[in-house]
Amino acid sequence: MYEYLPLLIVGAIIGVISAVLIVVFSFVKDKKESMGFDRKMKDSELFGRLLKYAKPYWKQFVLVFFIMLLSIVFSLVSPLFISNIQGLIKNPAGFEMGDLILRVVLYVAILLVSLTCTYFQSLILQSTGQKIVSKLREDAFTHIESLSHSQLSKIPVGKLVTRVTNDTNAISQMFTSMLVNLVQNCFVIVGVVVMMISINYMLTLMVLCFVPFIVLFTVLFRKFSRRAYRKVKDGYTDINTYLSENLSVMKITQIFNRQDAKMNQFVDKNDKLYKAIHGQIMVFGIFRPLMYMLYICAVLCLFFMGSRGVIKNVEFMGQVITSETIVAFYMYISKLFNPLQSLAEQFHRLQSAFASAEKIFTIMDIAPDVVDAPDAIELEDVKGEIEFKNVWFAYNEGEWVLKDVSFHINANDTVAFVGATGSGKTTILSLLCRNYDIQQGTILLDGIDIKTIKIASLRKHFGQMLQDVFLFAGTIRSNIVLHDEFTDEQIMEACKYVNADHFIGKLTNGLDEEVRERGNNFSAGQRQLLSFARTIIHRPEVMILDEATANIDTETEVLIQDSLNKMMNIGTMLIVAHRLSTIQHADNIIVLDHGQIIEQGNHDQLLKQKCRYYDLYTLQFTKEQLKKSQKA
Ligand SMILES: Nc1ncnc2c1ncn2[C@@H]1O[C@H](COP(=O)(O)OP(=O)(O)O)[C@@H](O)[C@H]1O
Ligand SMILES: [Mg+2]
Repeated sequence: MYEYLPLLIVGAIIGVISAVLIVVFSFVKDKKESMGFDRKMKDSELFGRLLKYAKPYWKQFVLVFFIMLLSIVFSLVSPLFISNIQGLIKNPAGFEMGDLILRVVLYVAILLVSLTCTYFQSLILQSTGQKIVSKLREDAFTHIESLSHSQLSKIPVGKLVTRVTNDTNAISQMFTSMLVNLVQNCFVIVGVVVMMISINYMLTLMVLCFVPFIVLFTVLFRKFSRRAYRKVKDGYTDINTYLSENLSVMKITQIFNRQDAKMNQFVDKNDKLYKAIHGQIMVFGIFRPLMYMLYICAVLCLFFMGSRGVIKNVEFMGQVITSETIVAFYMYISKLFNPLQSLAEQFHRLQSAFASAEKIFTIMDIAPDVVDAPDAIELEDVKGEIEFKNVWFAYNEGEWVLKDVSFHINANDTVAFVGATGSGKTTILSLLCRNYDIQQGTILLDGIDIKTIKIASLRKHFGQMLQDVFLFAGTIRSNIVLHDEFTDEQIMEACKYVNADHFIGKLTNGLDEEVRERGNNFSAGQRQLLSFARTIIHRPEVMILDEATANIDTETEVLIQDSLNKMMNIGTMLIVAHRLSTIQHADNIIVLDHGQIIEQGNHDQLLKQKCRYYDLYTLQFTKEQLKKSQKA
């Protein structure tokens, strides 16, 4: 039998070396073309940043490490017990029932302890992982909140949702299972090899001869599985984007009767996803049986060589083989193959967790472009005087939307902006609250440059009422108070002030009536009145109304006009209104054209000038007269 020895040694050495080489090779290649996504950050950098999140929980990780070591030791010694029991049974001469029972009880005890270890290990890991990821989600959301309007408009909403949910989830898996499995599997592999060598180094060499095949299958598997995995991921992203785009406009789809066309598109995408998942299942379906086949081969070889050694009572290449050796090896081989297979499957999941981490950190690395100046001030009392001084602004570089705009608004005045669609009215209003930063000129509030005021402090003094009122899912009350504290009396007082009390009074639950997503269980007029109440109750010094009176039925319009007239008396008011009758009593009317002010003055002055305002007014006036005469 000695003639096999050199062959076996060479085979084992080649096996181990090729294993190491191929692993290193695929590791290097992996960085270059990982997951079809251009990775710019290094794995080490990503890992470092993730570790920062894990750092507060280092004690838990140390604890898990020790539990893990304990369970590894148990798992390594348990085959020895079995082989020992086998040895007892085999030898009837010295057999004592007590010995057997003792060993069985010990074995069961070890099993129980290692089960308990596994339970606590996963309990600690799960809760720690969730804590880490919840912090990460929180940071991601806080960061998204700090981005400016222009930055947010460049990132699709679906993508942001995926970052905060799916990607953080991939990272949570990394903390809860992957890392520990990785470490544990490596330890187990080393441990099993050491145990095997200590029992019978010749049989160990035989087992190691299978390593090159395992590595070959693993490398092939990873190549195919990565492709399959990417297809599945793309399929999901595709369907998610399609859904988020189409569910929100389902009403439009129905109005234009496009359900069938949309359905076909969806079926297409769904089909692609199905095929991708099917492909992935196939890859796993081939890999796992292959590994199983290798395992069976190894076991067969063990039985063949081992039993020859036992039956013929010969030494197998210098070492005696007993039936206990065979039993122990039989168990160790399965303990060796399991971690090898799971390492192969887990490695690319780790890579994809890194890819997710990179995507999240990329979003978190976007520096907010509208930020507080280092010496920004808090603004407590505001009178509401506003001035634009030679303001130039462009959303996209070079395309000026506002050109050298200057005007002055006294505190408590009502000023209206008039002009064609796209002339820059909304832009002026959103610059005031610093939703965007201007390129040239200054905007002053009470004579203070708004760039020197803390953004949160600045926005506190503005109340915005826009054409599309956004109501959050919740109750009428929660939508009016917006997380601030107000008594029911205060809320009802505000509602009364803006004439919202009539319809709220008719609701079965009053202020506690449920508001569904986007407030779609209320009419446009009711939503508008609620937004007025929301603004009034927070007592802003400057109120902004952007086409808030458009698309509203005549009955509600009377209510809204009435509340508007009242609101004009409580602070500075900036209005953009389509209907010129709404703004007739404004102290100043600013007429815009292509981002420039072409005239300003009050209603009477502008009518006398007989310019653009006069044209617009007479046009609307004659139209309304015509309508009235037609009705009569
Ligand atoms: N977020 C944006 N990004 C790029 N361009 C925009 C954006 N918002 C508005 N614009 C452009 O700025 C111009 C003025 O728009 P806006 O102020 O909304 O006009 P108005 O409110 O008077 O109808 C338009 O030409 C519009 O296309
Ligand atoms: Mg507008």
